[in-house]
Amino acid sequence: MTELSESQVYDAVGEDGFVRLVAAFYRQVPADEILGPMYPPADLDGAESRLRGFLIGRFGGPQTYVEERGHPKLRMRHITFALTPAARDRWFALMENALNEAAFSEPVDALLRGFFAQTATFLINQP
Ligand code: HEM
Repeated sequence: MTELSESQVYDAVGEDGFVRLVAAFYRQVPADEILGPMYPPADLDGAESRLRGFLIGRFGGPQTYVEERGHPKLRMRHITFALTPAARDRWFALMENALNEAAFSEPVDALLRGFFAQTATFLINQP
């Protein structure tokens, strides 16, 4: 399979795939000198579940995130964080580590990598 649509990712990796990916991402956050201080230390589990729920809905799974939190409005929801190019690069680097650890099939991996790179760049809100 070379052509994979976004809505097929959930069927390909299942809920478990997103659980593993997002857990691998957040495991690196607390010790990170750029990202660590930005996330709520008392609610990292909540942050993990929000990102996981968003991704599951975005890639063809249950729409629980939208039902609970409404339209993602990602730029608006990140406006209170200083998303500099350095923060973007670090976020993406941690997500690349998480993708490597999750070891999805090549088409899934390529699609998610492209999506994360593009979305993270789109969210930059400070020089
Ligand atoms: C560019 C670097 C990024 C930084 C520094 C960053 C930082 C943060 C922080 C600090 C939060 C608050 C944690 C919380 O939910 O309590 C958050 C929330 C969130 N982020 Fe990011 N983020 C970045 C990129 C992204 C990208 C690329 C995505 C999507 C692929 C994303 C999706 C989300 C989602 C879904 C939430 C929860 C929004 C909500 O429902 O309130 N973020 N982010």
